[in-house]
Amino acid sequence: MHSQDKLPDHVCIIMDGNGRWALKHGLERNDGHKMGAEAVRDATEFAAETGIGYLSLFAFSEENWGRPEQETGALMQLIMEYVEKETPNLMKNNIRVLFKGDLYHLRPQVLERLEQCMQTTGGNTGMTLIIFINYSGKWDILQAVNKLLEASPNLQTPISYEAFSGYLSTTGIPDPDLMIRTSGEERISNFMLWQMAYTEFYFTPVLWPDFRKSDFRVALKAYSNRKRRFGKIEE
Ligand code: IPE
Ligand code: IPE
Ligand code: MG
Repeated sequence: MHSQDKLPDHVCIIMDGNGRWALKHGLERNDGHKMGAEAVRDATEFAAETGIGYLSLFAFSEENWGRPEQETGALMQLIMEYVEKETPNLMKNNIRVLFKGDLYHLRPQVLERLEQCMQTTGGNTGMTLIIFINYSGKWDILQAVNKLLEASPNLQTPISYEAFSGYLSTTGIPDPDLMIRTSGEERISNFMLWQMAYTEFYFTPVLWPDFRKSDFRVALKAYSNRKRRFGKIEE
């Protein structure tokens, strides 16, 4: 990266490949998730240092509940431990943390930790870190529609794109400029469907636990060379 390179304001990451990383190293899938948490620390630090405004991390999808209980339980435990352990570091780096997803269907102990972290870091003015847990893009659109229907007698119709966005769980957060997905998979897997309408995609074969600051830097470099036209013609 050079100082004159165009920097994305909002980067989102589909952190994939923990299981394959574990398999490759002869370890259990849950060990891969533990190593994945280390990569989260690295990526967060790098994004904050670089001056990215918003970093979104897809940590657990609605569909991930389809995995064995042994794995989903370990992931929830890991998320709780990570949030607790990392809060002082996030405070030190002036990072505000938000959690997005169907949080009210998480175990109360998990929800409590997440709320505590949001409250503690809520006044921070540096980067915003958004962690998506029990999230899916279709869920987000549907919960927006349901909120709209509840508000319907007082609703101004037809509703605009901006007004609709105001009902999504990500209201107030700019749409992602860059989406990074690790592990070689090239799909969205039900992440922010509405919000990624014009996001630049960057796919890398690197497995998430191996994703280091240098890999992040390469992704940002690739982004700086993209020409975003938004349907228009170049000036
Ligand atoms: C990403 O790694 C972490 C989560 C989806 C929670 P995976 O667990 O999906 O790893 P692979 O895709 O099986 O390698
Ligand atoms: C996407 O990874 C979800 C997260 C990173 C949390 P998955 O591993 O669940 O996605 P698929 O099943 O390969 O599409
Ligand atoms: Mg996966």
